[in-house]
Amino acid sequence: MSEWQKTDWRAKPRVQMPDYVDQEALHAVEAQLSQYPPLVFAGEARALKARLGAASRGEAFLLQGGDCAESFAQFNADTIRDTFRVMLQMAMVLTYGAKVPVVKVGRMAGQFAKPRSAPTEVKDGVELPSYRGDIINELDFTPEARIPDPKKMLQAYTQAAASLNLLRAFSTGGYADVHKVHAWTLGFTAGEKAERYRDMASRIADTLDFMKAAGIKAETTEALRTVSFYTSHEALLLEYEEALTRLDSTSGKWLAGSGHMIWIGDRTRQVDGAHVTYCQGVQNPIGLKCGPTMTDDDLKILLDKLNPENEAGRLTLITRFGAGQVGDHLPRLIKTVEAQGANVVWVCDPMHGNTIKSATGYKTRPFDAVLREVREFFAVHKAEGTVPGGVHFEMTGSDVTECTGGVRAVTEEDLSDRYHTACDPRLNADQSLELAFLVAEELSNRRDEADAARAAG
Ligand code: PEP
Ligand code: CO
Repeated sequence: MSEWQKTDWRAKPRVQMPDYVDQEALHAVEAQLSQYPPLVFAGEARALKARLGAASRGEAFLLQGGDCAESFAQFNADTIRDTFRVMLQMAMVLTYGAKVPVVKVGRMAGQFAKPRSAPTEVKDGVELPSYRGDIINELDFTPEARIPDPKKMLQAYTQAAASLNLLRAFSTGGYADVHKVHAWTLGFTAGEKAERYRDMASRIADTLDFMKAAGIKAETTEALRTVSFYTSHEALLLEYEEALTRLDSTSGKWLAGSGHMIWIGDRTRQVDGAHVTYCQGVQNPIGLKCGPTMTDDDLKILLDKLNPENEAGRLTLITRFGAGQVGDHLPRLIKTVEAQGANVVWVCDPMHGNTIKSATGYKTRPFDAVLREVREFFAVHKAEGTVPGGVHFEMTGSDVTECTGGVRAVTEEDLSDRYHTACDPRLNADQSLELAFLVAEELSNRRDEADAARAAG
């Protein structure tokens, strides 16, 4: 095979990408983006790969979450802080409850382009091109708003850079210091899970006091004062990805400079398509969404193409079948992976297979179905003897009403109260925390069983 080039995808069939009318404007934007600094560095992508390798062996657990689609209009510091805080809280529940290190990856700082189930949208008899994310066109239902505008890539880059800057500041500048575990509780509403979280925070604070009293010095507790937080998004808009691709001088390998981890969507994973071709050549950790239509044969080809050296942490399979369907598909995909001896991280996305239209007309997800898919994911891995390596979900730290159910039961009638998503319905802060407690329980049961099996010899 001749050497991979960042433009190779251009010769392949592309789906879910816009046709820019003004090619000159497109080229000007590409030229500009190619000059800009990358948002992430190769060493960070390699560090994340190593952490994901640990997740593939059950020595860590991936927590990947954030918006379905980041929006230009809702871009502000509070939104980023609130989502980051809920991720920290969830990670704390998992670390404390399940005793595993948690790899934190946001669907943030680059998650702007959306694949759509239909190319057009009809409202009151008017048909317009679909909204494809703020990096491509606009949500307003007017013909002008739906025209793809390449200049939006520059705004997306700027927003991603500013978001990442804030996330880096939060991660290392004191906000994520575990000694602040009580402060992260602020913003919680009442509720049984919030109470459980406060209890846990108190026990953690006690432990920290004990460590201090016992003379464990601050310098040795660096790991408690900062977190590693990574970014990810779907690598859908390949003109943008190509323009931010850089050669890493240390390794001589290419890097997608747009985010630490990128993934291929369930609609763009054609084995010889543009998206797979692009992702083949960059060294970042790659996610691959696997829905019910993923065939065993395609998966075999994709394992070879995307991870030819069978590197641990390179490839994460993000399964999204829908509650009730995991048992029909996950076992066959696991068998395919095992037969090939392929190294993968198995991750559950309990969101994208559980989207329904409510009686009140809103796109929603019943929280029960989300939890059920997570339980089924754990059950299948237990039966197959494989490692459940993480969860991937759409959430926000804001108090939205987009998914029904949860402890503070959101009803179909409530959906209109605070339905703010530009695309798919997200879990709110309470629902996210509830999910974290369920996952922690599943993981600690798994650990107890493994311990018992070891004790039994
Ligand atoms: C997504 O993660 O936002 C998405 C569109 O997922 P999928 O490709 O699995 O449908
Ligand atoms: Co989505």
